[in-house]
Amino acid sequence: MYEEIRHPCVQHKLALIRDLETGHKKFRELATEITMFICYEALKNVRVKEVEVQTPVAAAKCHMIAEDIVVVPILRAGVGMLDGILSLVPSARVGFVGLYRDEATKEPVTYYQRLPPQAENGMCIIIDPMLATGGSTVAAIDILKEKGAANIVVVCIVTCPEGLQRVEDAHPDVHIYAASIDKELNEKKYIVPGLGDAGDRLYGTS
Ligand code: PRP
Ligand code: URA
Repeated sequence: MYEEIRHPCVQHKLALIRDLETGHKKFRELATEITMFICYEALKNVRVKEVEVQTPVAAAKCHMIAEDIVVVPILRAGVGMLDGILSLVPSARVGFVGLYRDEATKEPVTYYQRLPPQAENGMCIIIDPMLATGGSTVAAIDILKEKGAANIVVVCIVTCPEGLQRVEDAHPDVHIYAASIDKELNEKKYIVPGLGDAGDRLYGTS
């Protein structure tokens, strides 16, 4: 299950973040803004509870988020999306999964994990700007499910059909939200046209 957020405001920012002339400061700002838009959509079915609030005029029946939300950035590029989602749900808990793609095999290697216990019963939102082969996302979902998580969504900025298929095959219950489903992967397993190496562009390491 996946959803591409085609809203013009998202697509405008996506054009800017793809641009190779965009430096790391602007890239970070755009990653934050795009994440906010996508997460706004991804959170549309979050469980709410009714509360009564006294306005200056009268009592109002309102709705507030009732779900324990656990945001899980995949290190390191996922951290570039953290401010964006936390500005929407400031009370969310944050867990970390450290993964990198082995240069030769392109398969993920896990080097760190630290998850709050609320991951088991809460809504877990994995964030990573790039879902390329899907290997890293599948590995992160595997880790969350091993901890008992059952309500998992993935938010990325750019993905491609091959990666979506791999996640769908391994975890058909997980909904993926992206700003763009690009054409394909190249021989280095980079998304085409993509936006390059998201971690390097976020942190100015290239
Ligand atoms: C990038 C990206 C994803 C992964 C996607 O991370 O942020 O985690 O690659 O590729 P996949 O879908 O083929 O697994 P990278 O391994 O470059 O590590 P970094 O975030 O530390 O730069
Ligand atoms: N990781 C990235 O940062 N970019 C890609 O296109 C693929 C994997």
